[in-house]
Amino acid sequence: MADTEEVVVYIMPQKIQKQRLKHMKMAALKHHIMLAEELKENVTHIVTEYETSDQAMKVLKLSELPQNTHLLKVNWFTDSIKARAPVQIQEQHRIPVGDSVQRSQQRSESPPPNHIPEFSCQRSTPLKHYNQKFCEALELLQDYAEMREGDDNYMRALAWRRASCVLKSLKFTLTNINQVKGAKDIGKHVEKVLQSILDHGTSDEVEKVRNDPWYQKMKIFTKVFGAGTKTAQEWIENGWSTIKEVQQEYTKGDWRLRFGLAFHDELMELVTRQEADNFTEFIKHESARLLPEVSVELCGGFRRGKSKGHDIDLLFTHPLKGKEHGFLPHLLSVLEGRKLILCGKWNKSTFTEEAMYSDSKRTKNNQLDHFEKWIGIIKFPRTWKRSVSQEELFSDEGENIPLNESFEDLEPAKKKAKTGDLSPQEIAAQPRSWIARRVDLIIAPYDQYFYSLVGWTGSKQFNRDIRTYAKRTHNYAMTSHGLYDLTKRTSLPAKSEKGVFDLLGVPYFPPQERNC
Ligand code: UTP
Ligand code: MN
Repeated sequence: MADTEEVVVYIMPQKIQKQRLKHMKMAALKHHIMLAEELKENVTHIVTEYETSDQAMKVLKLSELPQNTHLLKVNWFTDSIKARAPVQIQEQHRIPVGDSVQRSQQRSESPPPNHIPEFSCQRSTPLKHYNQKFCEALELLQDYAEMREGDDNYMRALAWRRASCVLKSLKFTLTNINQVKGAKDIGKHVEKVLQSILDHGTSDEVEKVRNDPWYQKMKIFTKVFGAGTKTAQEWIENGWSTIKEVQQEYTKGDWRLRFGLAFHDELMELVTRQEADNFTEFIKHESARLLPEVSVELCGGFRRGKSKGHDIDLLFTHPLKGKEHGFLPHLLSVLEGRKLILCGKWNKSTFTEEAMYSDSKRTKNNQLDHFEKWIGIIKFPRTWKRSVSQEELFSDEGENIPLNESFEDLEPAKKKAKTGDLSPQEIAAQPRSWIARRVDLIIAPYDQYFYSLVGWTGSKQFNRDIRTYAKRTHNYAMTSHGLYDLTKRTSLPAKSEKGVFDLLGVPYFPPQERNC
């Protein structure tokens, strides 16, 4: 950080929209960054949207910059707001000298990569970025490594993903390998793949995997609800190459697999935001009737701004700790009474104090948590695909559904009885007005809530990185349940989502910027 007291910022209003300027000024005020209304002698940092110093100087009517005054891009200001204090000036903050655009391009082609913060949780990673082509290739290699068993492959998979995350956070499209050379997660192998895409538009290594029949089958099979790499591998070994074959031949498997296969086609059709919003509204309405002040939050990809997702993740809590007990079974009884549950499994909480610090090992399953939750498939009325009126959403039927206090779960056996002995395939084949959607319902006690919110918002990679960061930088164990200081053996409660970031000393990024 720069010495805060010496920094006085002048924001050149030209080329900045009024409203945006107002927001910038308010943000500065909030974080005690001193602003000057005009260019005075005490100004140390001039921030501008002009692309070259010549343009800016002309407007400022200066022939040269006063000593100790820096001319900077707006990104210096936004970085400072994120850090809540003026940050040290880095190469990417400086306005190129001179007037030719060519010159400015030359510069941006080889910025030193040391400006890329080490962990993805320290970087803004938007959903839409400048390097789709490269990231798609790197994540394909990640996928492939992940499908192959063994710790080595798992580490390889993470390495591809971390490299992809570096590219996702760049504010420009990669045009020259030097732009990322030397960054922590860009190793020689990654460089080779990127260079090949830069030179030829594709990489042989990537294309080879893309065309590998084993990879193609694994990609389809591992997407089936309930199927992991092991099951997918087993299907391939049985000589099956299409879902249809698996549907016809495979008779084993738990309830997930049986329903996952029977409803495969519609489960593969992604859930839209409209459906997610309608369902969330519906659940909020039902939940409020059961337990006033219960909080319902749509998490996962949707909270990060995605417009489609493979499932809907809803996180519940109640501000009075303990009030959440028994809520989920009640809600499930209501859903069951309204005939909205196709299948699912309710798991009680398995949380123990020990889980606070023993789960931080970097294993494949480090995303698993101990919350009480329900994982299953809900029957979505087809009308939920469009915007529906409140009346339609909250029809009165079911209002007097008796609550079944001892709601256990809807295991296949029980379910079978309820559906008149129909198999999942038979249910799928019946004429029906609903569509199957994967839903996760998670209950967090309030004292763990903000950690669960971060955890269930993701992305998965963001979680991995912020947890590694917590361990390496502070010797903290971080999970969806909390933050635990392993040195002092105490847990660190957070009072808000931002509080989690504050405790870690990581700049707060809103969910939309956690798409790593
Ligand atoms: P998802 O697998 O639903 O991912 O987990 P997503 O980002 O929402 O992707 P789409 O849009 O559905 O395809 C949501 C978040 O919840 C965490 C994951 O790490 C992810 O960040 N999660 C998932 C847990 O914390 N625990 C779990 O048991 C499962
Ligand atoms: Mn999700």
